Amino acid sequence: MTSKQLLLSDLVAGMSCVPSNYIRPTYDRPNFHEVESFDGAIPLIDLQSLNGPTRSDIIKEIGLACQNYGFFQVSNHGISEAVIDKMLHISREFFHLPESERVKNYSDDPMKTMRLSTSFNLRTENVSSWRDYLRLHCHPLEDYMQEWPSNPPSFREVAAEYCTNARGLARRLLEAISESLGLEKEYIDRALGKHGQHMAINYYPPCPQPDLTYGLPGHADPNVITILLQDDVPGLQVLRNGKWVAVNPIPYTFIVNIGDQIQVLSNDRYKSVLHRAVVNCDKERISIPTFYCPSPDAVIGPAPQLIDIDHAHYRNFAYSEYYEKFWNRGLATETCLDGFKSSHP
Ligand code: OGA
Ligand code: NI
Repeated sequence: MTSKQLLLSDLVAGMSCVPSNYIRPTYDRPNFHEVESFDGAIPLIDLQSLNGPTRSDIIKEIGLACQNYGFFQVSNHGISEAVIDKMLHISREFFHLPESERVKNYSDDPMKTMRLSTSFNLRTENVSSWRDYLRLHCHPLEDYMQEWPSNPPSFREVAAEYCTNARGLARRLLEAISESLGLEKEYIDRALGKHGQHMAINYYPPCPQPDLTYGLPGHADPNVITILLQDDVPGLQVLRNGKWVAVNPIPYTFIVNIGDQIQVLSNDRYKSVLHRAVVNCDKERISIPTFYCPSPDAVIGPAPQLIDIDHAHYRNFAYSEYYEKFWNRGLATETCLDGFKSSHP
């Protein structure tokens, strides 16, 4: 029993208490009794007519959701149930592989383009989070696929098909979001340089004391937009008017949220909203966010058309600078955006 488990999944079996390094201070706990849970917590937008005569109505809906919630769910998004089922299935299979097989992919270096890791960033954080995760870079696919796990044997093929589909959806949404801001359809596409796409497969094991810890503490996503696929176990919560609201899964829909880069591009018209993942006593949970992002060399700043009599709220910066800051500062509830404000009065 002297060997140290690298991953949470291999540590938890038979555990009846949360280890002390996972316990949050009393002022920073999930407080389940204060969390609201109701259908329609975030808007559900049907994308069926996005390419039809009523496109402008859907764009309006998307714009309102980005402005008022920072989050929405999408149906009729063009990704087949088979692609979704296969991706969830292969992810579960991966996390159920024997420890010796999984740890071949382990690293705690956040700059690695492929790694299986745990919590958020063990090198900088004080309290750990109840999560293991596999992180992959996915664009361009041919540059990264060969470093992905080769076990389960169909992992690369299934994940690649999923990534291609998710990228298509992200790009359709970015066109719609550009238009909703009154910009040309291709504005955001062009602002992202060569584009980037990362994916996490989050694995949250059952937890003996879910009220003491988080799967992921409150954070805003540093990228452009996130497209989240989750299984049927609830866990995601979104901050709305100062209250945490549970977003319960609807099968075969995706949850979309605005990341920090859209907040910058839109000069604060759209907000990158805090969200978190909580865990539960008896069910493992899998969630698969696609983080669509600029390429590291892309220079991001407010769109000139959205700098009104007001001023640019942010300075221009290379996405690589932002990304490193995000990983190095630890998942603080204060947004990473603060270090990128413009110096105007
Ligand atoms: C994330 C995230 C939420 C979830 O990985 O950035 O917010 O429900 N995940 O797992
Ligand atoms: Ni997130």
